[in-house]
Formats: sequence, structure tokens, C-alpha cells
Amino acid sequence: MSSNQLDKKSQAWSALFSEPMSELVQRYTASVEFDRRLWKADIAGSLAHAEMLAAQGVIGAADLADIRRGMAQITAEIEAGSFEWKLALEDVHLNIEARLTQLVGDAGKRLHTGRSRNDQVATDVRLWLRDEIDGIGTLLVELQRALVEMADKNAEVILPGFTHLQVAQPVSFGHHLLAYVEMFARDAERFADVRRRTNRLPLGSAALAGTSYPLDRERVAKTLGMVDDDGKPSVCQNSLDAVSDRDFAIEFTAAASLAMIHVSRFSEELVLWMSQNFGFIDLADRFCTGSSIMPQKKNPDVPELARGKTGRVVGHLMGLLTLMKGQPLAYNKDNQEDKEPLFDTVDTLRDTLRIFCELVGGIVVKPEAMERAARRGYATATDLADYLVKKGLPFRDAHEAVAHAVKVAIQQGVDLSELPLATLQGFNASIGADVFEVLTLRGSLDARKLLGGTAPAQVRAQVARHRTRLS
Ligand code: ARG
Repeated sequence: MSSNQLDKKSQAWSALFSEPMSELVQRYTASVEFDRRLWKADIAGSLAHAEMLAAQGVIGAADLADIRRGMAQITAEIEAGSFEWKLALEDVHLNIEARLTQLVGDAGKRLHTGRSRNDQVATDVRLWLRDEIDGIGTLLVELQRALVEMADKNAEVILPGFTHLQVAQPVSFGHHLLAYVEMFARDAERFADVRRRTNRLPLGSAALAGTSYPLDRERVAKTLGMVDDDGKPSVCQNSLDAVSDRDFAIEFTAAASLAMIHVSRFSEELVLWMSQNFGFIDLADRFCTGSSIMPQKKNPDVPELARGKTGRVVGHLMGLLTLMKGQPLAYNKDNQEDKEPLFDTVDTLRDTLRIFCELVGGIVVKPEAMERAARRGYATATDLADYLVKKGLPFRDAHEAVAHAVKVAIQQGVDLSELPLATLQGFNASIGADVFEVLTLRGSLDARKLLGGTAPAQVRAQVARHRTRLS
């Protein structure tokens, strides 16, 4: 398209077209309302391309200077909010190119040499996503740090550990928090891995088959920071694949879904813990809302919303997978639909992580309530069985003897540690007075001092490891 044709695209695409698009079709096919957020990446890609075209002698030095000048002005206009985005120009790429040509004339028309919007958009999305992944990585580190500090403060606090949401064994609350640190650490690894495959250059693939111009793709890759771990330029090796696959966006959304699911599990626990039936924690008021009818209410809206927004991100993953599944090679306009789910995934994950970085510090722990709940559920029954094993009983027999003891304790409405020694000895004669040490919650915790266990000493060791790793 010539510049005039670009400007008048609302009338018809080129000499080939005999009628303009209807307004409805124009609105239906346009993406500028949402893809304009790619503008920085679009300009960076264009400048890298132009600089390489000049170095290869495809365009002149004066053209490059004009393009740089025009792009500087466009950048200023967009930043100032004075850039006029036109729906008739369909997308971010055509809007910027048309304005460039308006500003600098022929040099603007030369920019698109050896390039197509197909490799252009694939490049833009990759550049944009790469930078967003970096921001998310930083937030994941911050969130882990907040959890680690909280874990350190609560290494000695005893929480009933659950299986099947039934009291199972006592655990350190710090240990519980560090479980989420492990999850978020793996999320960070996943994003770092996705980043490697995202940070590869499609430009040079043109529409689908590559181009006959003598482009230096590796130079463009280097200019754009698209390099591998060894600093070597990272360039997509097959033009058909480069312009058409969006697996990097799908992988990102899958990693984002897992991160959101981790946030969601934590949220579910916060909601439960804050309910009157648990009463284990309180959340700072700034993360809660009241009720318009029940004056006594304080609702954990932020974790509930995070749990809800997880569904939305998982939905985007399903959307992107489905978008891809029936597409023949190479580029199809279907791919324009990758943007809104991807953008919304980034926005949702970023905002959620930011809020949780703050929210963690605002958790008020109620250790007495946690400990009381741990006492109610015969959480040290396994410890009694282990005690009997140490006295020489096979584990299965010990398990059975303790089941009888728990039954009696339930009947009497007391904890195992409250049964008289004589009663306990009725279940097994080898039980001695030292049994009461193992029946305490703290004794149970301290006994699990192996790697990965819940003993406060082990929690402290893990806190130290995480601090080093995250510094
Ligand atoms: N707006 C388009 C997209 O997002 C840019 C590529 C258009 N290419 C084309 N041949 N129509 O995918």
C-alpha cells in the first residue's frame, strides 16, 4: 500500500479492491483498540529492522535518519496522549506506519521492505511478553520474600495440619507458609523457561516464506536483546513456524494458570482460616469489605476475588489452546484473537501478585486458636504409634493399639495426653511416663527434624536457604 492508500484504507485496501469495508466489518476486523498497547515493541522492532536495512544497503542512510526522527516524534505523541489512533487503520502496526509516512514521506514507505505484518506482530508480541515476564519474575521474588519473613516469625507457631480437611498432625505455621514459597519458586522457574522460548526473533520470515532481501536477522535479534543464555542471537529457524505458532503465549498462560492456582489455594486457606469456625487469622481491614446489610461482617474479598480470577486465567488458557488447534500453516487472522486473553492474563496475574505481596504482611496470626484446634483432633496419635514402634512393636500393631486409645479418649472427651498413665498402659504395657513428652504438640513437631520436615529448627534452616537464594 502507498501512503495515500494507507491513509484511505477505510475506503479500500488497494487498487485490487472495488468496494470499501462496511463500518461493521471494519470494527470486527480491527484490533487497534487493544493491540495499541504493543506500540513500544512495535517501534523498537521497526527501528531495529530499519537500522539493519540501512547497514545492508537496502535503504539509504538518509532514510534511516528520517525513520528515526519520525519514530521519535511518534513516541512523543503516544506518550503525550496526542497520537490519533484510527480504527480505519486496523491495528497498531498500520497506525504507526501511516503516521510515519505522513511525517517523513518516502522513508516511511521504505520501512516495510522485507517485512510483513505477520512477522512484525509475532515479534511485537514476543518482545512485549518478554518484558512482562521480567516484571512477573520480580513480583514472584517479592512475594516469596514476604512469605519467608512471615515463616521465620511463625516457625514455632503450631497449626493443625490437615488431610481431607480433618486434623492430621501438628505442623509449624512457618512450615506451612514455606510450602507456598516452594510453589512460587517453581512458578518463577517456569516463567524463566518460557522466557527463553519467547525471546526469539520472527522478523525476516516476512509473510510466510522468508524474503529475497539480504537481511541480517542475527543483527536485528541482537539489537532487540533476543539472545540465548550464552548471549548468542536467538532467531526463529523456520519462517512458516515463526509467523504462525503462538505456543510461547500458550506456555506463558499455562505457567500463569499454575501461579494463579497456587495463589488460589492460598486464598482458599485464608478464607477458611478467617472464618469464625477456624478463627486462625485475621486479615488487615484494607483487604476486606463489609456487608451492606449485616453490620457485623468483615469479608475476605481480596482472596475470594483472587480465587475467582484464577478461573478467568485458566479460561484464557483454554481459549488460546482452542484458538490454535485447527489452524493450518501459516498465519491466519485467527491469531489476532491471541491478544486479549494474553493481555488479560498478564494484567490479572500482575495485579494479583502485587496485592498478595502486601497482603501477606497484613496477616494477623492467632497462635492460641491454631493450637487449640490442633489439640482437639488427636494430632499426636501418630507420635504415640511411633513411640510404641521404638519400644519394639511392629508399626501395624502400634497403629491398632493407638486406635483403641483414641477411641477411649473420644468417649471421655479428653486428649491423649490427658489419659492417665495407667489407662494408656492398658493399651500396651511398654508405655512409660516418658510418653507424655511425645504426646505434646511441640514434641511432635520437634521430632520431625529431617530434611523437609516441620520441626522449627528445620523451618529455620529452610528460611536461611531461601533468604540466600532470593538475595
Ligand atoms: N493485527 C494482526 C494480528 O494481530 C496483524 C497481522 C495481520 N496480518 C495479516 N496478514 N492480516 O495478527
